Amino acid sequence: MVQSDIQDVGLVRQGWQRIGWADAEMPVLRLIRERFARERPLAGFRIAACLHVTTETANLMRTLQAGGASVALCASNPLSTQDDVAAALVEHAHLPVFARRGEDRDTYYRHVDQALATHPNLTMDDGADLVSVLHNAHPELLGDVIAGTEETTTGVIRLRSMARAGALRYPIVAINDANTKHLFDNRYGTGQSAIDGLIRATNLLLAGRTFTVAGYGSCGRGLALRAKGMGAKVIVTEVDALRALEAHMDGYRVMPMLEAARISDVLLTVTGDTAVIRREHLEVMKDRAILGNAGHFDVEIDLSALADLAAERRAVREHVEEFRLRDGRRIYVLAEGRLLNLAAAEGHPAAVMDMSFANQALAIEHLARHGRALAPDVYPVPAQIDQQVASLKLSAEGVAIDTLTPQQEQYLRSWQEGT
Ligand code: ADE
Repeated sequence: MVQSDIQDVGLVRQGWQRIGWADAEMPVLRLIRERFARERPLAGFRIAACLHVTTETANLMRTLQAGGASVALCASNPLSTQDDVAAALVEHAHLPVFARRGEDRDTYYRHVDQALATHPNLTMDDGADLVSVLHNAHPELLGDVIAGTEETTTGVIRLRSMARAGALRYPIVAINDANTKHLFDNRYGTGQSAIDGLIRATNLLLAGRTFTVAGYGSCGRGLALRAKGMGAKVIVTEVDALRALEAHMDGYRVMPMLEAARISDVLLTVTGDTAVIRREHLEVMKDRAILGNAGHFDVEIDLSALADLAAERRAVREHVEEFRLRDGRRIYVLAEGRLLNLAAAEGHPAAVMDMSFANQALAIEHLARHGRALAPDVYPVPAQIDQQVASLKLSAEGVAIDTLTPQQEQYLRSWQEGT
């Protein structure tokens, strides 16, 4: 039995079936896994991964193992672990997993320590907690580490500020910045899965509701698009003039949060920043307003301000907490203000994680080969990997495209031809 800390081994069968279901939607990752099994490009490498423990992540872990790596996995969020998947990975893939859904803060960080105790030479992170613990609490392990990858916008922002401060000690590839990641996972993945979480938690009818999306990055765009598609009247709040202008021209109402807070039925944050919904907004909200967050950390809604305004709080449904304010208004918070799409639903669908995790697998292969030559910094996914993932996904989807004729290539290379 491999070392692990999971909730319930009894869930193995269900977990393995669900991993297989997701695998059927991940043809690009499967192709990579088959090649890895033949070529073993990761033989001899130890990988510590801090990712959401989902069926899609399980298929990434299987791919790394097929490439010959020894892998340990811990959760990247206390509420996102799918316990059946954790059990199946331990039992069927003999993978050390340290993750329990609903774990407290101490357990969460103990699990990160346990993954690091495997002395990784490659790291995979989603939010940069593992990298941060490695640098702050276990600098003695840094000597073994060649390179790493980071999955998400928030993690990349943290790593860039570490690099700027001269604190980052090894090279990390920003998976998030690949086009085949953020244009799809962030937009269509978050768009669908955050709505999925909202509906599973509340069973709310969206048609006709006033729905505020805070933040118009790739995730906010997807969320606004899907909410609009379900008949909601969508408002966007932004702090960036260009993004606000895009939202305006995409047909949404754009206004400050203080105005949006007065009229919204649902407000979801996807900014990556802190205190986006705070006391001044909570004070003017409608009775029965619903608040949720699909940004990486649970800092976007100021829950301590809400607790302060509340006379009483209680759970009213799974993933829904009611705060009854002293003036009688009720405000509902979904999934403790944590990642709604992973806490109340199953995260992004496998078909979109296929591209994100194909980038992860190919970037790790690239780093196993070339990581030692890179100075500590944050790097983009090599363009040929991004292109390859796009081409493989298109062909897996059965979509054919045109190629340039020699005449067109010649035209694009020339500059003499004009009006
Ligand atoms: N992030 C968002 N959705 C995810 C999923 N299904 N698996 C792993 N990480 C995710």
